[in-house]
Amino acid sequence: MTKHIAIFTSGGDCAGLNAVMRAVVHHAHGLGWKVTGIENGTSGLLESPYKVRELKPDDFDGFIMRRGGTILGTTNSKNPFEYPMEDGSIKDRSQEIIDALGELGIEALIGIGGDGSFDIHSRIAEQGGLNFVGVPKTIDNDLDMTDVSVGFDTAVAVATEALDRLQPTAASHDRVMILEVMGRDAGHIALNAGIAGGADVILIPEIAYSIDKVAEKIKAVKAAGRNFALMVVSEAVRTPSGDKHQVVYHGGETRYGGIGEYLGPKVAEATGFETRVTVLGHVQRGGAPNWNDRLLALALGVKAVDLIDEGKFGHMVAWQNRSAVSVPIKDAIKRCRIVDPKSDLVHTAKALGISFGD
Ligand code: F6P
Repeated sequence: MTKHIAIFTSGGDCAGLNAVMRAVVHHAHGLGWKVTGIENGTSGLLESPYKVRELKPDDFDGFIMRRGGTILGTTNSKNPFEYPMEDGSIKDRSQEIIDALGELGIEALIGIGGDGSFDIHSRIAEQGGLNFVGVPKTIDNDLDMTDVSVGFDTAVAVATEALDRLQPTAASHDRVMILEVMGRDAGHIALNAGIAGGADVILIPEIAYSIDKVAEKIKAVKAAGRNFALMVVSEAVRTPSGDKHQVVYHGGETRYGGIGEYLGPKVAEATGFETRVTVLGHVQRGGAPNWNDRLLALALGVKAVDLIDEGKFGHMVAWQNRSAVSVPIKDAIKRCRIVDPKSDLVHTAKALGISFGD
């Protein structure tokens, strides 16, 4: 029987979103279903006419499957339950989304998102008696119950390459290079890239540090005869006194940023090394997905369609032990998965002599 499903991307973009769509569209079409893409999260359903378009397999076999970002657009600031209206007021528009999906004849919804968007969209699904399946994506890799989320691998590859590029310039100028990477409240990118990129110091929000301990490590590097050092700091690391470093953007949105610049002069003063800071920012989100992210995205996209075919809703597809599985969304969003200071990766870093400043 022909089914009509819809797909949308929600929250911050990352590499691999178009690849998820490719898998969903191919697999669904193979089953004889129709797929509609909704633009800008579910905000496309709040416009008149709706911003939606039919997605077909041919659309995805050329350059789009290789492309970063999302062809559907996304938003990480328009919660339908608290929708910011043009006149400055806030309105609950969730029922409008439910009505629109009904009017379009959509029978099941696939959302590619993170914990915030899963929370919102599973609430909408529950309210409207809709069928919803989530596909995990986030460069932060902080979604629970999946070994990895779409976009993380590429972000780590970008951060690792940044360290590879910083090392020769650090060595040429006898400098400490501090690389600030993303990771809202979780240090996974810093930890993984720091180990892979040969950092001397990795600072993550999960492990308390002191400038003295950081300086101790860098001085030891110098005493051993090396003329440079590499440091990675996660954006969510706080100052030693516990303050967050944040930027308030035009419109009032607050995001992490600035801890690298805070630490730079302090490290220079404590070590006598000249210090420079690089903030990697959204470079970690853009660009083509690497092969790992493509495979993950494609496997999870196919699994999402399988779940709809089986009539299994309210679940997130997940990658566990090299297999695509499904877990209840409510379990996946119960907690944010931060770095476990007792994990093998932290142990690996310590065994390699990498300091966490603790
Ligand atoms: O959650 C993904 C993420 O890239 C975080 O790592 C970062 O703190 C945040 O989004 C940046 O958000 P925005 O794109 O709104 O600046």
